[in-house]
Amino acid sequence: MYDLIVLGGGPAGYLASERAGHAGLKTLLIEKNKIGGVCLNEGCVPSKTLLHSAKIYDYAKGSEKYGITCTEVKYDQEKVIKRKDVVVRKLVGGVTATLKKNGVEIVDGLGVIQGKDSEGFIVAVGDKVYKGKKILIATGSQVLVPPIPGLKEGLEAGTVITNREILELMEVPESLVVIGGGVIGLEMASYYNSVGSKVTVVEMLGKIAGPNDTEISSILQNNLKGKGIEFILGAKVTQVKNDTVVFEKDGNIQEVKGKKILLSIGRKAVTEGIGLENISVATERGVIKTDEFMKTNIPGVYAAGDVNGKSMLAHTAYREGEVAINIITGKKDRMRYHAIPSVIYTNPEVASVGETEETAAGKGMEFIVKKVSNNFSGRYMAENERGDGITKVLLDKTHNTVIGVQIIGSYASEIIYGAGLMIETEMPVDDIKELVFPHPTVSEILREALFI
Ligand code: FAD
Ligand code: NAI
Repeated sequence: MYDLIVLGGGPAGYLASERAGHAGLKTLLIEKNKIGGVCLNEGCVPSKTLLHSAKIYDYAKGSEKYGITCTEVKYDQEKVIKRKDVVVRKLVGGVTATLKKNGVEIVDGLGVIQGKDSEGFIVAVGDKVYKGKKILIATGSQVLVPPIPGLKEGLEAGTVITNREILELMEVPESLVVIGGGVIGLEMASYYNSVGSKVTVVEMLGKIAGPNDTEISSILQNNLKGKGIEFILGAKVTQVKNDTVVFEKDGNIQEVKGKKILLSIGRKAVTEGIGLENISVATERGVIKTDEFMKTNIPGVYAAGDVNGKSMLAHTAYREGEVAINIITGKKDRMRYHAIPSVIYTNPEVASVGETEETAAGKGMEFIVKKVSNNFSGRYMAENERGDGITKVLLDKTHNTVIGVQIIGSYASEIIYGAGLMIETEMPVDDIKELVFPHPTVSEILREALFI
C-alpha cells in the first residue's frame, strides 16, 4: 500500500513525487514513456537547446556589426541535434536520480485506475496491481490532431510532423509550412528560419502569438518577417494534400507548399484510457476539473499540470504539483494563476505576465500603460544597437500597483519573474521605485518605465 500513486512523470508528476518522497510519503510514480515528460524529452528543453544553437549561428552571421569577422560560418544540424540529445539525457538522468534519492519507486508502463475499495485506490500497470491511499493524476497533454482532411495521411507519410519529430530532424528542410502561429509554431519558425529553411506560417487569427499583447505580437511579426519568415494571417487550414497546405482566406481557397509541414495548433489533455470513469472523476471540455488545492471532485484524487488545462506551461505544472503535495501533507497552500509568466523563446524573445491592455480592458479594469523602448537600457543598446524591443507596464489606477508586464527583446525571459513578483506581492509602485536594479542590465527598463 502506497501513501500516494502518481500517474505520469512529467514536470507535474516528477516534482510532486520528489516533494512527496521528501516529506516521507511512500510514493509510487508510474510513467509509460520517459521520465521528464513532454517538457524534458520533446518540449521545453530540446526546443530551447536548438534555439540556443540558432542564436549563436545568427550572432556569427551578423558578427561584422560588432567588429568581428567570422569566416566560413557553418551550421551542422546533425551535431546540434546530437548535442540536444546529450542535454536531454543529462537532465532526465538528474531527475531520475533525485526521485530515487527521495525514495520514490518508479514503475515503467501505462497506469490505469481500476477503482477503489475500503483501503484505497487501485491502479493497474499491465497485469500488476498497486494500491494507494491517494492519487495524483499528472498525465499531461498530447498534440491536438483536428479532423482536417489529409492530415492523418500526411502524419503517416511523415510530410506532416509534430513537435516530436521537428526536434529530431537530422536535415534542415528546404521549406517548412507551419500550421498555427502560436508558441510552438513561432519558436520552430524562428529556429528553422535561422538555420536556412524557407518558412511560411499559416495562422487562422488576424495576429500571431495568440493571447499576447497585440502591439508586441505585431513587433514580433515584423521582426521575424524582416528575417525572411512569411506570415499568412486570417487563414484557416482546411486540407492537406501531400506537400500542399490548403487554406481559406477572405473567402478564397489558397495553397502553400512545403517539404515539411509542422502541425502546431494546440494540445489536448490526456484524460482518456486512464480509467477516470472507474472512479467518476469529473472532466469538463476534455480536462480534469480541479480547485485551487488541485483537488478533483473525488476525495483523495488530485490532478496537476496540463491535464487540468488551466495553464499548459511547465512552471505551472511544477507549482501545481507542489500545491497538491502541500495539501496532502497538511500544509497551507493554494494555487494562484494571475501572475504566471509566459515566454516565447523566439529571437527576439517575448515575455508576459499578468494583464495585457486587452484583458484588462475586457475586465473593465482602470489602468495606466507605461511604455518604454528597450533602447533606454545601456546594455540593450550595447548589445542590440537600435533594436525594436519595448517594455509595457500596466498599473492599476486605484491601487498604484503593477498588474501586467510585457517585454519583447533580449533577456525578456530572465527579467519577467521580477514583474511576476511585483504582481504577486502587490508591491506598491513607490516601493519598487526605491529598489536598486543592477546597472547596466536590460532589467532596469522595468524600473525606468515607472518614472515615465
Ligand atoms: P507532460 O509533460 O505531458 O507529462 C505527462 C507524462 O505522463 C508523460 O511523460 C506521459 O508519458 C505520462 N503518462 C500519460 N498517461 C499516462 C498513464 N496512463 N500512465 C503512465 N504515464 C502516463 N512549457 C514551458 O513552460 N516552457 C517552455 O519553453 C515550453 N516549451 C514547450 C515546447 C514544446 C514543443 C511543447 C510541446 C511544450 C512546451 N511547453 C513549455 C509545455 C510543457 O511541456 C508542458 O506544460 C509540461 O510538459 C506539462 O507537464 P505535465 O507534467 O503536466 O505533463
Ligand atoms: P497554441 O495554442 O499556442 O497556438 C495554436 C495556434 O494555431 C493558434 O494561434 C490558433 O489560432 C491556430 N490555429 C488553430 N487551428 C488552425 C487552423 N485550422 N488553421 C490555422 N491556424 C490554426 O498551440 P501550440 O503552438 O501548439 O502550443 C501548445 C501549447 O504548448 C502552448 O499553448 C503552450 O501552453 C505550450 N508551449 C509553451 C511554450 C513556451 O512556454 N515557450 C513553447 C511551446 C509550447
